[in-house]
Amino acid sequence: MIDLSTTYMGLQLRNPIIAGSSGLMNNVEYLKELEEAGAGAVVLKSIFEEQIRHESESFLQSDHEKAREWKTTFNEAVQQHPYAYEEAEAYVNSFAKEHTLDRYLAFVAKAKQTLKIPVIASIHCVSQYDWSYFAKRIQEAGADALELNIYVLPSDIKRSGAENEQVYFDVAEQVKQQVTIPFSLKIGYYFSSVVHTITKLSESGASGLVLFNRPYHPDIDIRELEISTGQVCTTFDDYLHTLRWVAILSGMVKCDICASTGIHSYDVVIKQILAGASVIQIASALYKQGPDVIPGMLKGIKTWMEIHNFETIDQFKGMFSQKNIENPAAFERVQFMKLYSRIE
Ligand SMILES: Cc1cc2nc3c(=O)[nH]c(=O)nc-3n(C[C@H](O)[C@H](O)[C@H](O)COP(=O)(O)O)c2cc1C
Repeated sequence: MIDLSTTYMGLQLRNPIIAGSSGLMNNVEYLKELEEAGAGAVVLKSIFEEQIRHESESFLQSDHEKAREWKTTFNEAVQQHPYAYEEAEAYVNSFAKEHTLDRYLAFVAKAKQTLKIPVIASIHCVSQYDWSYFAKRIQEAGADALELNIYVLPSDIKRSGAENEQVYFDVAEQVKQQVTIPFSLKIGYYFSSVVHTITKLSESGASGLVLFNRPYHPDIDIRELEISTGQVCTTFDDYLHTLRWVAILSGMVKCDICASTGIHSYDVVIKQILAGASVIQIASALYKQGPDVIPGMLKGIKTWMEIHNFETIDQFKGMFSQKNIENPAAFERVQFMKLYSRIE
């Protein structure tokens, strides 16, 4: 009898397939569809602090009754005292923040009421204070866990690698102090020493690491001569980068690994678990193939487990982790020496 159940961050999942955060994950009916298709858990669309800032600007430009009322207060305050400008602006921003956060909290609560599978909320903040404030409020709304979507692009010449990396530790520390539900860090790989930093992050209080987030990529349109948006969705062979690091890190980290990026088919789910992931996330596969991709993956995994006489996920999890293979150097090879010499 095949049993696909597993645990992630202390949560009991019926299988290792998590529907990852994306624009699709902002609608409870769609989340229900994913549950019916067999998803093990869902990660809601992130609440973005930048989105709140944007909403506060568009709120001030809008024309509904509440906005008119605020604009009057705002303008009067500024007329009465020019220094009131900053105060009034902060007031509007804080109103917009509460308004957007309240909507997100209502969504979290509704998702929790509707679904039986674990609901993981997702946060991306910029300012230090908001990470822990949002986390606390989301826990109160009933989320089972939190995913902290942190991405520091190390593009500032004045900041050292250590300074950039400290941001991840500070966020984990602040959130840890505010919540009792488990949280994961969804991170990129721009670290000066990937293994050193990620193993230290695994001891920061996080219960899971999502490897890896995929950032927005700008592109250049050579016809229109302008900046354009690069490929938003991943493709079938984008999983290899994650596979290497999951295999290397899984024997070293002190928390669960969730593999992410480029997982579009059942065979890659199996590869990531063999490398040591506890669970995997899919986002682009849902955009490209719809919720039906999930039953297809589950069927493929079950058939493969039957063929290889595995009854549980734990029986093969980490079999190909770097620490468990005869030739650990396989995951550290970066040159194609033999292949190049054959091509010559
Ligand atoms: C259209 C789109 C929207 C996304 N929105 C979010 C988001 O709100 N929060 C987040 O953490 N990740 C977001 N992601 C990133 C995905 O969760 C995932 O990390 C990334 O797409 C790589 O996984 P994949 O190959 O399965 O797509 C988004 C991805 C896509 C394609």
